[in-house]
Amino acid sequence: KLEKDLVIAIDGPAGAGKSTVAKIIAEKLGYIYIDTGAMYRALTLKALSKDYDLEDEQKLGVLAESTDIKLVKAGEDNLVILDGEDVTEEIRDNKVSNNVSVVAKVPKVRKEMVRLQRNMAKSGGVVMDGRDIGTIVLPAADIKVFLTASVEQRAQRRYDELIDKGEDVNLEQIKAEIIRRDNIDKNREVAPLTEAEDAIRVDTTKLDIGQVVEEILNICQEV
Ligand code: DC
Repeated sequence: KLEKDLVIAIDGPAGAGKSTVAKIIAEKLGYIYIDTGAMYRALTLKALSKDYDLEDEQKLGVLAESTDIKLVKAGEDNLVILDGEDVTEEIRDNKVSNNVSVVAKVPKVRKEMVRLQRNMAKSGGVVMDGRDIGTIVLPAADIKVFLTASVEQRAQRRYDELIDKGEDVNLEQIKAEIIRRDNIDKNREVAPLTEAEDAIRVDTTKLDIGQVVEEILNICQEV
């Protein structure tokens, strides 16, 4: 247990291990875990199911403002509830993964998600993961971690995850999709994926999850 309730921001590209690590840390500290990527995914799922033109920023902005997204803890599980419906599984579909970067670059969408995220972090004792948490959403976070790993390693992790789920996937193709997604996330105009100046960088290429968790918990002890 730590002396006080901290706000912990974990950023980094897809496949660096953010969500796995953030979840474990939240559990160990008794904190709330907030997966901001899941929120962009939920909105993307809704836009896809409505057959929206994903280039139509105006429409996506309006959609964001009229959508109810909740992250709910149910026992061990972190559920994503979209307009009252459990979409925890669906938001991980490849179709969503391959379209979410386009939705996440819309300024009005980001504005609304950031508003919700700041609200969720208000009480402290949170671990929030995403791309712009340390830079934009929670610039005053007590701890900022930037997780990285080589593209090859990140692709391999995503591949193993999907194979585990019984999906028929190709490693080279996953690598290409990760590179494409990184590029959109890093080069968008609003809140691009960048490392906060005061973030602690942890390269997870050669570390296992336990080692990464330990490193971050050590950082927490020092605050
Ligand atoms: O972490 P993830 O793969 O679930 O994120 C899905 C997408 O959402 C990813 O392409 C980048 C975007 N995202 C974002 O722009 N800002 C965040 N804070 C979190 C995710």
